[in-house]
Amino acid sequence: MKVLVVGGGGREHAIVRALGCSAHSPELLCAPGNAGIAADAECLPEVGAGDVEAIVAAAREHGIDLVAIGPEAALVAGAVDALEEAGVPAFGPSAAAAELEGSKAFAKELMREVGVPTASHVLLRGREEAIEHLSCASYPAVLKADGLAAGKGVIVCATEAEACDAVDVFFTERRFGETTVVLEEFLEGEELSLLALCDGENVVPLAPAQDYKRIFDGDRGPNTGGMGSYSPVPGFGPAEVEEIVDAVHRPVVAAMARRGRPFHGVLYAGLMIGPAGPKVLEFNARFGDPETQAVLPRLRSDLLDLCLAAREPGGLAGVEAEFGEDWAVTLVLASAGYPQSSSKGDAIHGLREAAELAEVTHAGTAERDGEIVTAGGRVLNVTGLGPRPAEARDRAYDAAGRIRFDGMQIRSDIAARAVERVPS
Ligand code: AMP
Ligand code: GLY
Repeated sequence: MKVLVVGGGGREHAIVRALGCSAHSPELLCAPGNAGIAADAECLPEVGAGDVEAIVAAAREHGIDLVAIGPEAALVAGAVDALEEAGVPAFGPSAAAAELEGSKAFAKELMREVGVPTASHVLLRGREEAIEHLSCASYPAVLKADGLAAGKGVIVCATEAEACDAVDVFFTERRFGETTVVLEEFLEGEELSLLALCDGENVVPLAPAQDYKRIFDGDRGPNTGGMGSYSPVPGFGPAEVEEIVDAVHRPVVAAMARRGRPFHGVLYAGLMIGPAGPKVLEFNARFGDPETQAVLPRLRSDLLDLCLAAREPGGLAGVEAEFGEDWAVTLVLASAGYPQSSSKGDAIHGLREAAELAEVTHAGTAERDGEIVTAGGRVLNVTGLGPRPAEARDRAYDAAGRIRFDGMQIRSDIAARAVERVPS
């Protein structure tokens, strides 16, 4: 069986590795992949992760039996629809189903319809309406771009003045091309990422995870694509996970089916766990990055079987995703200047030593004259595993300590919370 993974980040490297453990022993390809994925799959560097036509052409040319899509852009652009139309089986939601991630306004409206707990909100159509509304809003408040914004579409505003500046950013400066923004109640609490596999009808939860979005220790500084993660999460055992899936994922999947947009693939709920219980911050229609790098190394079930089952309507009935007892802690090693910019072409040392201690997956790396060099903002992920959070964390930091490149940034407090809560 030939499987093509679309994407070229740490998430896709983790997906490739997990598929590589399948009993089907699939032949693995990755488009475009990166310098590390090249050791585990045949990379197709000329195929862009968001280029639907090129993905379909590559899948046909290589006789692919299943395409698994990592990033949201390809999903929202209809990669799964185009592949299936071309007769290539694909794991992931159709464009109509991916709108849960592609439009915050759509997701909010659907949640309101089915009573899924989320922050209260108003939709502001156009700059004038937005500015007018800001004077009667209460603060802090959160402004969100309606469409995909590559992790940069959310601004937390402490005051009305900050909110006015944010409106300018959305409607003019950053040129998101926004016509609508969402103004949302600010929620306090702790975040949780709960990803689940869906087959249009059934929901199979994966292990919960927590990610760290800010660049600096103590959750300070600007948001990033994610600086680390860990799984599982203390306090969220199977009973709590079922409760959330019942309150959030199942009603959403049922509503999508009723609307003729059955959701197949990974439904990722980003949740705020506050005093009133979990509330949804956002939905993603795909695996999370860097949550996947902590979740998949713990998966004991066959990922390829799960992906194949999720494609079939009702294919996941009675299926469970099983996880090992080990904890996993993932650190992101980012390049100088990230998240505002990134440094490219810096030589990376110590990869082999690190890989003896932990799982090293590549994100922004490239090969230059036989040497691995930096090629993006988030460069590498290091995932340590261990019977308790402390061991997993020590392993991850020990391994990451072996890796060196100019200007390397790493947070020093990833999973410290889990270590405190689950003492050795
Ligand atoms: P989102 O892309 O919607 O998940 O937002 C990115 C990040 O912004 C979240 O992970 C939270 O840290 C923060 N955030 C989003 N919405 C809210 C909210 N309503 N209240 C507090 N923080 C939020
Ligand atoms: N970890 C956040 C995301 O994947 O969007």
